[in-house]
Amino acid sequence: MPTGACGNHLQTGRDFFFALHALISDSLGVATASPALDLREEILRLKAERNAVILAHNYQIGVIQDIADFVGDSLGLAYHAQETDAEVIAFCGVHFMAETAKILNPTKTVVLPDKDAGCSLEQSCPAPALQNYLQEHAERNYYVIAYINCSAGVKALSDVICTSGNAIRIVEQAPEDRPILFVPDENLGAWVMENSNRKMDLWKGSCYVHVEFTRNSIQSIKDEHPEALVVAHPECTSAVRMLADEVCSTEKMITYCREAPAKDLIVVTEGGMLHRLRKEVPNKNLIAGPTENCACADCRYMKMNTLEKLHACLENLEPQVEIPEETRKLAEASVIRMLEQSR
Ligand code: 13P
Ligand code: SF4
Repeated sequence: MPTGACGNHLQTGRDFFFALHALISDSLGVATASPALDLREEILRLKAERNAVILAHNYQIGVIQDIADFVGDSLGLAYHAQETDAEVIAFCGVHFMAETAKILNPTKTVVLPDKDAGCSLEQSCPAPALQNYLQEHAERNYYVIAYINCSAGVKALSDVICTSGNAIRIVEQAPEDRPILFVPDENLGAWVMENSNRKMDLWKGSCYVHVEFTRNSIQSIKDEHPEALVVAHPECTSAVRMLADEVCSTEKMITYCREAPAKDLIVVTEGGMLHRLRKEVPNKNLIAGPTENCACADCRYMKMNTLEKLHACLENLEPQVEIPEETRKLAEASVIRMLEQSR
């Protein structure tokens, strides 16, 4: 069986078309229109045909961000998913984000380019483990606040959801007479405690990308650029957050970098963020914060999505997100509570 450029078997009509395109171009020795351009056009054609909207997270590869109808952080994406009139949502991000779109849109078709695009935070808090913990500590009567980076099962067990963009606001609205359990990110949870008047019990989860930034790696880049200001994501450890001039969600990084009174800005988050920042804040020198062990800070899950896979999911309407209705309904209540509390 023939294989495509990435070594995958040719499964779709589109794969066949591009293989044929390459064959004809090679054998005729003539340059024909670029396949990348055709692929973009094909995606746009399918999008119109399917009445689809393409939503993309700030960490997606540049070509996906550039073709999306909306690019943003988890909060902005959740609001867009809630408000869209499209029949199909093609969600370019990780699985829990597409799942959130489905929680809010049970009758719509939600597809994602790669169903295996997970998240280390989601994996660190399986729903059965949370359920056991809550049963074992039933006497505490916890008010559970879940960072949106978790499964629908965990959302269903929670009272309210938050994102990095509204976490402080959501925590401050928690009932004062109940102890809070914050899941699954201990770093985001610690940052919220530092910035609110609430104490919380924290689940021991973390983002495998953001914990790669260290005090040493960020201090060294600061030493190289003494005039630079540092903006970091709250999923970073406290040692890194302490070196930052601003700690915020990916969306707020855009405004911060635009308005910051400095030309040089060190951006401490996943590498995809630099694409959008360089487009929207072209007059600043944006420096990628280095990790301790390598120069890149790419989330392997976010980077599973490609233009080819986006095209295939629009063409085949697969893979789709499905959630058992009982779980979805419970999860929806906690997501809607978040959307209402952060307006
Ligand atoms: P934001 O909501 O700030 O974009 O964060 C999402 C995420 O997964 C960060 O790793
Ligand atoms: Fe999850 Fe971290 Fe990837 Fe964000 S960057 S999706 S928190 S693994």
